[in-house]
Amino acid sequence: MTVFHARQAARRAVATALAAGATALAALAASGIGAAHAQSSSPGSPAQSQPALSDVASLGKLIFNDPSLSASGRMSCASCHSPAHAYGPPNGLAAQPGGADLHAQGTRAVPTLGYVLNRTPVWTHVQAASVFERLTDADSPPAGGFAWDGRYNTLHDQALFPLFNPNEMANRDSAQVAAKLERAPYAARFKQLFGETIFVSKDAAVHQAMQAVERFELEEPSFHSYTSKFDAVLDRKAEFTASEMRGKKLFDDPNGGNCASCHIDQVGANGAHPLFTDYQFEALGVPRNPELRANRDPKYFDKGLCGPVRTDVSSNKNYCGLFKTPTLRNVATREVFFHNGRFHTLRDALRFYVERDTNPEKWYPKDRHGHVVKFDDLPAAERVNVDTVDEPLTRKPGGKPAWNARDIDDVIAFLKTLDDGYLPTNPPTAGARFVKISTTSAPIKRQ
Ligand code: HEC
Ligand code: HEC
Repeated sequence: MTVFHARQAARRAVATALAAGATALAALAASGIGAAHAQSSSPGSPAQSQPALSDVASLGKLIFNDPSLSASGRMSCASCHSPAHAYGPPNGLAAQPGGADLHAQGTRAVPTLGYVLNRTPVWTHVQAASVFERLTDADSPPAGGFAWDGRYNTLHDQALFPLFNPNEMANRDSAQVAAKLERAPYAARFKQLFGETIFVSKDAAVHQAMQAVERFELEEPSFHSYTSKFDAVLDRKAEFTASEMRGKKLFDDPNGGNCASCHIDQVGANGAHPLFTDYQFEALGVPRNPELRANRDPKYFDKGLCGPVRTDVSSNKNYCGLFKTPTLRNVATREVFFHNGRFHTLRDALRFYVERDTNPEKWYPKDRHGHVVKFDDLPAAERVNVDTVDEPLTRKPGGKPAWNARDIDDVIAFLKTLDDGYLPTNPPTAGARFVKISTTSAPIKRQ
């Protein structure tokens, strides 16, 4: 057991405070991040009208969708964060192909960019003087920051990573990207917004381009449209079916699924609709994924917070194996689950939770003595970090899983209510407006 296995009470306290204080926490984030709130009247209500994007955000949209900014000339941000797939991956590949010839492979599944970007708190851990510390005792888990390992605090810093990562857009340096921006059809608008001399400094040009992408990610309503059935139910404009309702109870039950202890589903005190994450880091012991080429090397381990991708906190061995709790909004539209993309159906992802400990032989390989190697995607010494104290991860081999097949059906029915684009057949309130997620962005070029 690690110090990060916060008691449930502590987790609940942080969770509730987080849901309640989402706006305040987001405001703690670096400048651009809180800015989105100035635009949207109340975080978590369906957009009543589609506000026009600012000039900078409109430019950011073009950059987000521009494949010419990659070494291959065929990959944009939207290739991996597909607007038609809730800004998640367009397919079931564990990691997307990238690089100059689109034959390289990254090491992680593409997360959705839906909802979380303007509400993710900055990275915090126990030493930080933060809202968390005041609310809980010092054993609270680390939280916040962008990417599976929370290594970025701003979206423009984050956006530089795919631009230069050899497995993704694979640009050599700022000069190369700036040259492409200068040749882009929107170059004139770029100069208009950032000054005629902007391309004199290559670094400044790339920095402004990524600032524009950030503005787009924060302003564009389809990133956070709150048009799911779940939102409609919260606003009393729809009702759950019996199966969805039963699924929600199973999801919430602290002695059963206990999912809501990390994937928060309560409305915040400020009325914000929940995003189904507490932004905290946990080690779940997801099995190793042979589909990732990096895993061909038996000595390679993606240990999340403690590296190898994130490097600043790698000396803390208690951090090994911890990844950020993702939002579950639009999760039923995904074909790839968890940081390493190990599962390809929502059903398998849920079965893993409830059978990880009762039937480990279903999920993990055996060693040469025939023993099941639990938590095989971590070096043996770091497997102690895996959560075995939060339900439903506490059971014993041969025990009864928290859910049976019917329970899983109902939880899936509930999770499907988190898909955007729900249009009630009989809107109960006159004038209630439901905005369908926009999929009208520029076509995504793929090979
Ligand atoms: C080759 C696929 C690929 C491309 C292209 C790509 N991304 Fe990503 N993106 C990912 C993956 C994988 C992650 C998770 C990274 C990690 O955890 O290290 C990610 C993470 C993110 C996150 C963090 C989300 C969160 O909730 O923390 C943001 C924001 C993001 N990408 C924006 C962008 C932008 C902007 C671009 C274009 C400049 C882009 N991405 C291009 C694959 C891609
Ligand atoms: C202790 C906190 C915690 C609890 C309890 C928990 N989760 Fe998670 N969940 C996480 C973390 C952390 C991840 C990412 C782990 C990783 O990728 O290694 C995750 C990932 C997921 C994913 C994959 C989403 C994606 O985009 O890849 C699904 C689906 C999911 N959880 C559903 C559930 C359900 C259903 C339950 C209840 C049975 C549950 N979770 C309970 C923390 C938790």
